[in-house]
Amino acid sequence: MAPIPATMKAVQIAKNGGPEVLEYKDVPVPTLSAGQILVKNKFAGINFIDTYFRSGLYPAPSFPLTMGREASGEVVAVHDSVTRFAPGTRVAFMAGGDSATYAEYTAVDAEKVVAIPEGLSSEEAAAIYLQGLTAWTFIREAGEVKAGQWTLVHAAAGGVGTLLVQMLKSVGAKIIATASTEEKLALAKKNGADYLVNSHDDIVSKVKEITGGHGIDAIFDGVGKATFDADLQMIALKGHLISFGNASGAVPPVNILQLGAKNVKLMRPVVNGYVTERADLERYTSELFDLVISKKVEVKIHHIYPLKDAAQAHIDLEGRKTTGKLLLKFD
Ligand SMILES: NC(=O)c1ccc[n+]([C@@H]2O[C@H](COP(=O)([O-])OP(=O)(O)OC[C@H]3O[C@@H](n4cnc5c(N)ncnc54)[C@H](OP(=O)(O)O)[C@@H]3O)[C@@H](O)[C@H]2O)c1
Repeated sequence: MAPIPATMKAVQIAKNGGPEVLEYKDVPVPTLSAGQILVKNKFAGINFIDTYFRSGLYPAPSFPLTMGREASGEVVAVHDSVTRFAPGTRVAFMAGGDSATYAEYTAVDAEKVVAIPEGLSSEEAAAIYLQGLTAWTFIREAGEVKAGQWTLVHAAAGGVGTLLVQMLKSVGAKIIATASTEEKLALAKKNGADYLVNSHDDIVSKVKEITGGHGIDAIFDGVGKATFDADLQMIALKGHLISFGNASGAVPPVNILQLGAKNVKLMRPVVNGYVTERADLERYTSELFDLVISKKVEVKIHHIYPLKDAAQAHIDLEGRKTTGKLLLKFD
């Protein structure tokens, strides 16, 4: 194994702003605290949450802030207190706190890391990890989706959306997909969506027509502000409305009395809360990896950018130009 250098390439922000505040820099390789391992990253995932920390929608804990919340790579060092992993193991993980992944090396708590099984490449693992755990835990725990139920996925050709559609298909749900272009809708159809609605159309009346007035039993909405009011109109009696993102802006405060008309179960979940316990992380990750290895879910990668082009990846993602997953690759 190559020696660990003193410095590495990373992408940081020193202040909030547009993609231009992302700086490609040399920074020290992180040192290990108790319970941590050092991963030499191969691929890092780009996620919409990265743009929230960059813009300031979510406050940075401090500056400079290294960006990035997920990666796959190889364990290159292990703190004396860790028994779970040995150097050389291929791993995937979600980062947070002081750990970040737009960087060649990440020091991360071993408890947050999983080994990548045979049959899954490091590229595939990074491409499905955070978004796949999000989609799968939200279907299982937030939506409690059952076969035959009506479901709706907004931004169905995006990173999370692409996975939600394929996973909902695997559990036998009826899927209505929304997206902003015909090309994106065609992709959603290919991934298993049963009905397609262009988000520029009158979604509420189309959904009423498609479901024969029943409405949607589980709505998965990562678009946020632009679609929340329509969601309240489309939700079925006792439906699960899972609002989980802010791609169009944060949903403004909600009058709780609005939920009474249809006994709506409104949720605003965050993936980390479903995998905080080690047993949950292992179970959901193993189910996620199995879905890919058994080909029930196909990994769809839009583009792989070199680390220095992270700003371009943000421009493309926020510009609604992408479908599926965006990755950063390390040399
Ligand atoms: N709560 C959690 O734990 C969790 C975890 C992962 C992701 N998320 C959320 O899930 C959502 C999707 O994340 P992702 O990384 O997979 O991104 P993505 O879906 O690949 O990209 C966002 C998509 O949102 C749609 N969109 C609608 N209005 C938009 C606007 N004004 N600006 C930009 N995009 C807009 C676009 O699709 P159309 O052009 O088809 O409208 C765009 O492609 C995000 O809101 C993210 O924060 C939440």
